Amino acid sequence: MPARYHPALVVLHWALAFCLIGLLFAGTVLLAPLANDDPAKMLSFRLHMGLGLVTLFLMLLRLAVRLSTRVPPPAETGNAVLDRLARLNHAALYLLAFVMAGSGITFARASGLPDAVFGSGPMPPDFAGHTARQVHGLASRLFMALIALHIVAALWHHFIRRDGLMARMGFGRR
Ligand code: HEM
Ligand code: HEM
Repeated sequence: MPARYHPALVVLHWALAFCLIGLLFAGTVLLAPLANDDPAKMLSFRLHMGLGLVTLFLMLLRLAVRLSTRVPPPAETGNAVLDRLARLNHAALYLLAFVMAGSGITFARASGLPDAVFGSGPMPPDFAGHTARQVHGLASRLFMALIALHIVAALWHHFIRRDGLMARMGFGRR
């Protein structure tokens, strides 16, 4: 088994970490608190929806690379429950990224938002009544919690356990 992830997966991991954390931050701070008719929201809508679609595309690419390349053996902490939780968390991170993109596209389309933001259609007053909007909000909180857990775990491996795990998501001889 290789000592590191495939370089393409490494690039995608870090590019997607940047995109997803940016989307979570911007969605919560620059979109959700503003009324839809606030002029300051238009640019944020455009960037969030555009970057959200790019992120969906990169996630599909990542899934394809992940399923078609060899990966290092599962990391071990010495605790079988923790090892299993880490694998579950990785799967949940993949799943939640797709849930976020899917729910975003669903309520945006259902409310006519793409036409209002990228064309000349009317702006929906809000997204009340769209179940996918609620899914987008709730899933985002779970996603934030699991990403935080993932980052704390990576830091624990790096600074406390000092087992070189971070290098598996880096470049070098495989
Ligand atoms: C600064 C933030 C981050 C750090 C330091 C970090 C670090 C790492 C490290 C060291 C690994 C390798 C773990 C192993 O070999 O078992 C890894 C894997 C992974 N990371 Fe992150 N990560 C970060 C952000 C993220 C984000 C934002 C996501 C997605 C939402 C993510 C999703 C994953 C997944 C799914 C894996 C498993 C590898 C795979 O199957 O693709 N990471 N991360
Ligand atoms: C792919 C990853 C995505 C992430 C991580 C993400 C994250 C977020 C977050 C955290 C919020 C704020 C939720 C809240 O505080 O209740 C939000 C709002 C929003 N997202 Fe996303 N999003 C993503 C993709 C998309 C996509 C693809 C679209 C549409 C094409 C979209 C459309 C929106 C809209 C319109 C809002 C504002 C809702 C409002 O003003 O009430 N998102 N997003």
